[in-house]
Formats: sequence, structure tokens, C-alpha cells
Amino acid sequence: MPRVGRPGPRPAADEGDPPGWTLRAVAPAKLNLGLAVVGKRPDGYHDLLTIFQTIDLEDDLFFRETVGPGISLRVEAEEPIPGGADNLVLRAAELLAGARGVAQGAEILLRKRIPAGAGLGGGSSDAAAALLGLEALWGLAPDPEERRRLAIELGSDVPFFLVGGTARGEGRGEILTPLPGPPEMAWLLFVPDFRVSTADAFRSLPPTLTASRQELKMLEDAIIHGDSEAFARHVVNDLEPGVVRMEPRLARIRDVLRRRGARAVGLTGSGSAMFALFGSQGDLAPILDAGTGLSGGWARSCRPMDSRAAVVTRSHDDHRDPDCSPG
Ligand code: C5P
Repeated sequence: MPRVGRPGPRPAADEGDPPGWTLRAVAPAKLNLGLAVVGKRPDGYHDLLTIFQTIDLEDDLFFRETVGPGISLRVEAEEPIPGGADNLVLRAAELLAGARGVAQGAEILLRKRIPAGAGLGGGSSDAAAALLGLEALWGLAPDPEERRRLAIELGSDVPFFLVGGTARGEGRGEILTPLPGPPEMAWLLFVPDFRVSTADAFRSLPPTLTASRQELKMLEDAIIHGDSEAFARHVVNDLEPGVVRMEPRLARIRDVLRRRGARAVGLTGSGSAMFALFGSQGDLAPILDAGTGLSGGWARSCRPMDSRAAVVTRSHDDHRDPDCSPG
């Protein structure tokens, strides 16, 4: 796959499954196609109105049971990711084991491709995949209510990753309404070399909040009606002005993408990753070739993904029990 700047993560298809694992769960990244900050809450957080979209940039989690109890996690990643107790995968596993009274243990391998601190939701997606994967590994009867309760406890974006696809998120993002997939367009993801702190992004909001509620409504209507022109016109993120003030390099990236024909350029979450929408795949090719003015990060084309069907599958390298199928 052509890339700009330093190489991004290798696509999943380039890597085989590691040998000896029973189950594999896919954890996709997300974009916020629109994000309005609609109010400040007494708990210090902000209420949002957002449209989430899963994309085909994915972490993989591999699972196998252990004879004794205890859960261990190994992380394979290009950049350092904490694999200790504060990793959301371990927290998800411990929460699930505690809530469902699980006596078995598990080993988990997390193969990271989604960069951290980019607004792509990698940690939250990994946590959701851990809940789904371990439910299957331990043979627990699926309990969507309990799963959702645990997801909310793990983080605002985690409930979305239990469903994936396209969805409106309200509250802190945990109140979800599924939407149809977005209109057909060509998508580009740009991940800068620098990261943005979510807390700083929210601190950069003006006290009055700009709350682009109307824009979000129009974005949602455009999705429902499959109107690509309107869809591109209403991509908005209330965090973007403050984040761009903190990181002016984002303004340059946006300008380059616009000059290169992007119909819309959006910031996902609190950044630092940006996405751009183009009319056709042919428009992307020149941008993905080197020397277009995009530097200081990596770019790749991406595709919106629908729902999380078949997120948990038997690992291709597990030949111990051909009849085993995840519950
Ligand atoms: O979700 P996370 O814990 O990473 O958020 C970091 C900080 O960003 C929070 O402590 C809060 O200050 C701010 N935040 C917010 N409203 C949200 C999400 C995050 O104010 N919906």
C-alpha cells in the first residue's frame, strides 16, 4: 500500500496469525465524522453529540486459555504501549472475570497497529474486543446488558466498539443509535508524528462552547440520504479550533489536503489524526505518492466498516480442535 512519510503500520493481511492461539478478535479504529460539544457536566466531563465510524485500521487480539487462573497480556507494538495493569485490555479482562465469576485464566496477545493519542480509539476498541473475545474463550453465555455495563465502566468510547459501524453517540458517547453507512467516497487517513492530549483539547474550548448541533443534524441527514455533497459539507469537530491553536501543524496538513482536492478534512476525536474525503480512489493516488507536501506523519487510504459481525473468529493457526467455534 502506498504511503506518505514514515511507514504506518503494516496491514493485517500482511501478517499471518501467530501460532498456538485459539481465538482472534479484531479491534478496529474509529473516526468521529462529526463531533459537537454540547455541554459541561458536573463530573468535569463534557456531553457530546458525535457520529462514530469504524474503519479498516485494526489491532488484533489473540486469546488462549490457561490451566490455572490469572490473566496475562503481551503487547506487540512499534511504539511503547503499557502492557501493565492500567492497560484497558487487562482491566476489561479482570472486570469480566470478576463480574461473571470466571475461574479459568487466559493469555492475551495484543498486536497494535492503531497509534495511541491520535483520536482513533485504539485502547477503547481493544477493551471491547477483549470483552467479546474472552466471553467466547471462556464459553460464557452472551450477556449484552452486562457487557454494555462493563464497557461503560471501562471508558466512554468502549460501548461504541461493541457495535461498530456507523452510529450517533450522545452523553459521553455511550448512548448509541445505529445509522446507515456513509455515502460512497474515497477516504484518506493522516496520522501526524505528534500526539494531542484529550484533556488539553477539552480545556481549549471557549467557556460558551460552540456546540455545532445543527451541523451534526445535517451530517446525519446527509448520511441517511446518501448525499455525499452534503456529507462532505457538514463534517465538523468543535474541538478542532482549540486543537489547531495548540498544534498549528494541523492547519498546514488540512491546507495541503484541501489543495489536493479533498472535499472535506476532519479531525477525529481530540486528534491528532485527520481524515479527508475525496470524490474517487483515483484522487487519492497522487497524494499517496511521495512529494506532495504531506510530511511529518503517515497517510493511507481507509474504508468505513459496517458492524462488528464476526469480530471473534478461531485463530487460523489453531489446529488443536477443528470443531471449536466461539459462542
Ligand atoms: O476520556 P479520557 O479520560 O481520556 O479524557 C481525558 C480528559 O478529557 C478528561 O479527564 C476530561 O477532562 C476531558 N474529557 C471531557 N469530556 C469528555 C471526554 C474527555 O471533558 N467527553
